[in-house]
Amino acid sequence: MSSRPIYFGTNFKMHQTPDESAAFYRALAAVAPREPGVQLFMIPPATSLAAVAAEAKADPARIWVGAQNMHWAAQGAYTGEISATMLTALGVDLVLLGHAERRGMFHERDEDLNRKVLAATDAGLRVLLCVGETADERRYGVSDETVLKQLKIGLHGLDGSRAGQVLIGYEPVWSIGEGGIPASPEDVAPVAATLRSALSRLFGAAGEQIPVLYGGSVNPDNAGAFVGVDGIDGCFVGRSAWTVDGYRATLAACLEGR
Ligand code: PGA
Repeated sequence: MSSRPIYFGTNFKMHQTPDESAAFYRALAAVAPREPGVQLFMIPPATSLAAVAAEAKADPARIWVGAQNMHWAAQGAYTGEISATMLTALGVDLVLLGHAERRGMFHERDEDLNRKVLAATDAGLRVLLCVGETADERRYGVSDETVLKQLKIGLHGLDGSRAGQVLIGYEPVWSIGEGGIPASPEDVAPVAATLRSALSRLFGAAGEQIPVLYGGSVNPDNAGAFVGVDGIDGCFVGRSAWTVDGYRATLAACLEGR
């Protein structure tokens, strides 16, 4: 078993009003197990961040609050965008970068994500950088090459002293969301090993401490098996954790699988 903590959280995508997100935080905080070595997080839409960060501030066991995206510039003529310092001013802990939906629907390139990773870590944010191959890339047998390229460009130029601010989410694109086909632990294991050895090569001992989370159709029935895969340190969940009961049940399964 690794010495790294377990991480567990959900991305609400484009769901929830500020009141709904704050109510979710309160209800989750009341029932979620708070164990040492287990870090929970939730990633509501940008409009909910202030309300959720206010809840987290009042919670000694703080569930990390994450943003779903940000721009790499500190400020400027970027209509509709949000900067890292705007997020830290709200009390946000973490920013999700490179989710498959942003890469796919909004054409985010690895080079853009690299700029975002550097800007976010400079501003003191943690980054959850998502990587994952499409169904075609898997069919052609280039899953490893795909995630390595995403990882190496995404983290390019990151100083080793900032490695502790990074988390990696491995999310095969073919397994995400409605219509996604759940991966098996056997699918995940070789890619997790590839990511782990790349992180060690890039950052040495600090790279060994970077958590790698699995995401894509995670639910209470399969979460334990994913966390049982060597090199996987937790789950990044969508639909199954969008209710407090679902969050709790999927988290419980994840912790059972340690
Ligand atoms: P899902 O979403 O758990 O609903 O498949 C995962 C994700 O989009 O990160």
